[in-house]
Amino acid sequence: MQSLIDHLNEILKHEWTGVAQYSQAGFMVEGIWREVFADKFLDDAKESFGHAKLVGNKIVALGGVPVTMRNEVKQSRDLREVLEFSLAFEAKAVEMYGKAIDMAEETGDRALIIFLEDILKDEQEGVDEYTKLLRDTPAQAIQTTSAKRVGG
Ligand SMILES: [Fe+2]
Repeated sequence: MQSLIDHLNEILKHEWTGVAQYSQAGFMVEGIWREVFADKFLDDAKESFGHAKLVGNKIVALGGVPVTMRNEVKQSRDLREVLEFSLAFEAKAVEMYGKAIDMAEETGDRALIIFLEDILKDEQEGVDEYTKLLRDTPAQAIQTTSAKRVGG
């Protein structure tokens, strides 16, 4: 059980990182895309906090002490790079919750497995969303073409 608690604490550290990283992204986004992304990033910070709350409470229920540290925050003024950091953040969360589920399966604690699976679903949605956001869209292609036309 101790190794599972330790791993849940690694997850909690990752969620605290998300709270700070997404908040920072929301604060810093400027230009026309601020209108769209400031709220989106702050919502993602809230989602990380929601997960931190769930995991922190579960760690205590299992007899552990939740960590209060976080990992290093990745930040950039380049929106595309921020989206790439976000995708990497969500992908790491998927991997971490997947590993936690594998560990929980060894304990046979059905409720804990379901608890972790619920969060895993959110994390996978995050991966799907950022994957789509980073995909070149027809609208972007039009914008690039007309920009070229103006420039050339
Ligand atoms: Fe999360």
